[in-house]
Amino acid sequence: MGKKIIKNGTIVTASDTYQADVLIEDEIIAMIGKNIAIDGAEVVDASGLYVFPGGIDPHTHLEMPFGGTVSKDDFETGTMAAAFGGTTTVIDFCITRKGETLRNPIAEWHAKSKDKAVIDYSFHLMIGEMNEDVMSELPSILSDEGITSFKVFMAYKNVFQADDGTLFQTLKTAKDLGALVMVHAENGDVIDHLVNEALALGYTDPIYHALTRPPEAEGEATERAATLTGLAESQLYVVHVSCEDAMLKIKAAREKGYDVWGETCPQYLVLDQTDLEKPNFEGAKYVWSPPLREKWNQEKLWNALKNGYLQTIGSDQCSFDFVGQKDLGKGDFTKIPNGGPMIEDRFSILFSEGVKKGRITLNQFVDITSTRSAKLFGLYPKKGTISVGADADIVLFDPNVERTISAETHHMAVDYNAFEGMKVTGEPITVLSRGEYVIKEKQFVGTLGAGNYIKRARYGKTLQNDSDIVTV
Ligand code: URP
Ligand code: ZN
Ligand code: ZN
Ligand code: ZN
Repeated sequence: MGKKIIKNGTIVTASDTYQADVLIEDEIIAMIGKNIAIDGAEVVDASGLYVFPGGIDPHTHLEMPFGGTVSKDDFETGTMAAAFGGTTTVIDFCITRKGETLRNPIAEWHAKSKDKAVIDYSFHLMIGEMNEDVMSELPSILSDEGITSFKVFMAYKNVFQADDGTLFQTLKTAKDLGALVMVHAENGDVIDHLVNEALALGYTDPIYHALTRPPEAEGEATERAATLTGLAESQLYVVHVSCEDAMLKIKAAREKGYDVWGETCPQYLVLDQTDLEKPNFEGAKYVWSPPLREKWNQEKLWNALKNGYLQTIGSDQCSFDFVGQKDLGKGDFTKIPNGGPMIEDRFSILFSEGVKKGRITLNQFVDITSTRSAKLFGLYPKKGTISVGADADIVLFDPNVERTISAETHHMAVDYNAFEGMKVTGEPITVLSRGEYVIKEKQFVGTLGAGNYIKRARYGKTLQNDSDIVTV
């Protein structure tokens, strides 16, 4: 691969903003400095653009069997859309089945991603139950697969839901092995009760999805998971925090000194519960879990990102067509597949609504969309920053261009966009994955299968590139 020099851009990391050139060689950042000149190197002009580390989306469900169907965007369309949106690494959830070796679903996830992904990717592993077999398999999964994060669902009764014993044992095992435990924190038993009551009363519209999953069910589960984490002296990452109630439980746990982290998603920052009331079953487009909340929660979540009570943003990409998939739940909201198409707009929405509106700083934006996830999930400093020796995963971002989000122009496979009509400022122009163009001047120029599977470091450890750094 030839050398590239990115010139005239403004480099932004989680800590610094400065003007310099970036030399890329052999997939990595070989040098950062003023006026770099190398014979034969391709010069990429980044005048007026930010040079961001590629986004890391720590929460995706590509081609996931769920709700009687399979999420529409797979590793091909999903990673292409991610790249258009400024994301260069996704960590997808490998869904396991109780009573079966963990190796089978991991092999399935490799099979469905290997020849499709256009950007780098990694897997989290769902733990549905903890028993002797699972315990004995896990050490080799960390060492062979580099999977260093486990996911426990506290909701979706009779589907994915695990009991507290499994959660506690997972926390203890993760502590011993050096893994981070992730939880979907909602009280699945309480939700099941509320859902049955609603159905018995004949309440079937999409809005009842939200009304039967109240903030208290999320807050309670979040507090329980945090408490068990403290007891196990382990580490916890709460995915898709949707409301103030849950956010405050994370804040309180952190103030006690517990190693607890929180992620929110763009949908909770800009959409609200009234979207589920849209007529003609359109509310189904906004059915995911936890549900959208009353609007006042949005500013609480923004403040939490600003003040560090929540630290990351994931997309929770899990897309289903409105026609042919969401409509499985016409006449019964419990049959609407849960999830939405978010992978493409995560980065832009955080920039536009966050940085441009003064809610977070430019450096916080990089931390929240990339660096913090790299650190928590064992990818740093190979990924998540612009520094010598890091992978050249780079986004050249125009902070001033204005556009309207629409399914007409998005690159996801689904037939609607949850942010339809929303005006955003700022857009990725060119996106590099390990030094190769994936998006060039807003056009896809990547290659299916060019994305590498990334084995991650254990919790709290760094991941280094072993290739030699070029010194010129
Ligand atoms: O509704 C959602 N969020 N679907 C994806 C699975 C999950 O709970 O994250
Ligand atoms: Zn979830
Ligand atoms: Zn009741
Ligand atoms: Zn999810």
